[in-house]
Amino acid sequence: MKKSAVLLIGLLAISGGASASAAGDAAAGKAKSGVCSACHGGNGISMLPGYPSLAGQKADYLEKALKAYKNKQRISPQAMIMQPQASMLSDADMSNLAAYYSTL
Ligand code: HEC
Repeated sequence: MKKSAVLLIGLLAISGGASASAAGDAAAGKAKSGVCSACHGGNGISMLPGYPSLAGQKADYLEKALKAYKNKQRISPQAMIMQPQASMLSDADMSNLAAYYSTL
């Protein structure tokens, strides 16, 4: 189980390198996900009410959501918690994080 997960991430990293602008690099996303886990859970499953789980969500959706927070298109009291998080991410970070959470 563990071994196949590592293999999968390795394969994703290789395919990500082949087409840089397409799908994100899940391994790089995992490396950036430490701060996210405080609110979204270590495995992408949130324990907190009002804080969404990210595990298994579609990568496209996650990436669009992150961009919408960064561009301040998602506005709500809860979104105000997420906006500063997204504002610190580059486009590549967002795509990599989206790829990572979609694999969980
Ligand atoms: C301080 C707590 C906190 C941290 C840290 C945090 N988030 Fe969030 N995040 C939230 C909250 C609260 C929401 C729900 C906001 C809303 O209702 O729009 C959210 C929403 C999201 C969503 C939208 C999910 C959906 O289903 O629409 C994504 C994607 C996301 N966060 C990704 C991340 C990533 C990636 C990181 C790390 C870089 C991160 N978050 C760090 C609190 C946090």
